[in-house]
Amino acid sequence: MKAFTLKSLGAGLLLAGGMMATSSALAAGGHGCGEFTEADGTKVTLECSKAPIDLTNKGSLQRGAQTFMNYCVGCHSAQYVRHSRIAKDLEIPPELMEKYLMVTTDQIGDHITAEIDLDTQALWFGAAPPDLSLETRLRGDDWVYTYLLSFYEDPSRPWGSNNLVLANAAMPHVLHNMQKELGKEEYEARVGDLVNFMAWMAEPVRHERKVYGAFVLLFLLVLLIPVYLLNKEFWKDVK
Ligand code: HEC
Repeated sequence: MKAFTLKSLGAGLLLAGGMMATSSALAAGGHGCGEFTEADGTKVTLECSKAPIDLTNKGSLQRGAQTFMNYCVGCHSAQYVRHSRIAKDLEIPPELMEKYLMVTTDQIGDHITAEIDLDTQALWFGAAPPDLSLETRLRGDDWVYTYLLSFYEDPSRPWGSNNLVLANAAMPHVLHNMQKELGKEEYEARVGDLVNFMAWMAEPVRHERKVYGAFVLLFLLVLLIPVYLLNKEFWKDVK
């Protein structure tokens, strides 16, 4: 009986470990970041670059929010996110939020809507820009980061730009001027902040979830000691 209990405990722990490993592998986005063919015909598979995600870095999240509000909500909505939640979680004073970061509404309780009607955009671009609230969970942080860094000039496209990750993307290279002004390193950092913000937006409690998860596992491990001793005590006279 005792052996059985210990075995099932071991199996339970293994299962929990396995589930954690699988979920982090899934979150890391097991899929690549697209394929393309070089001019000489060789096929190249693009590896995703690692997005610098750190939801405890408020400065990075604030810079990301600023870029998102200034460059993305013209076309994209983020319909599950309220401006007031951004202000609260990212510690942005509501007055500053209202003054600088509320582009498409003047009510701080409103969700983020796109400035331009989606049907009109579908006509303009040939594809409607998807809602971005959950984008990093759909595609993975690294995919979104790599996508945003993979625009290149292509005169054959309507907006003069194309994308290595999403071939013939209908989205123009909206950060083009920023890229030119900032230089490679600073530009990549700014895009990193943007994706960090998008990761926060897709799951505001992501950091807390991990911390609580670690505590719960630690608690269970500590609980194991008295439970094991009790088990020994209860069964010691039973053969
Ligand atoms: C001028 C309008 C416009 C702006 C501004 C814009 N986008 Fe887009 N975006 C689009 C369109 C249109 C698509 C659809 C592309 C396609 O499917 O070919 C798209 C697609 C995307 C996708 C890929 C969605 C998917 O899963 O296929 C991401 C990610 C994205 N945009 C992020 C951003 C971010 C971040 C910004 C701000 C820096 C931004 N976009 C600004 C029009 C825009």
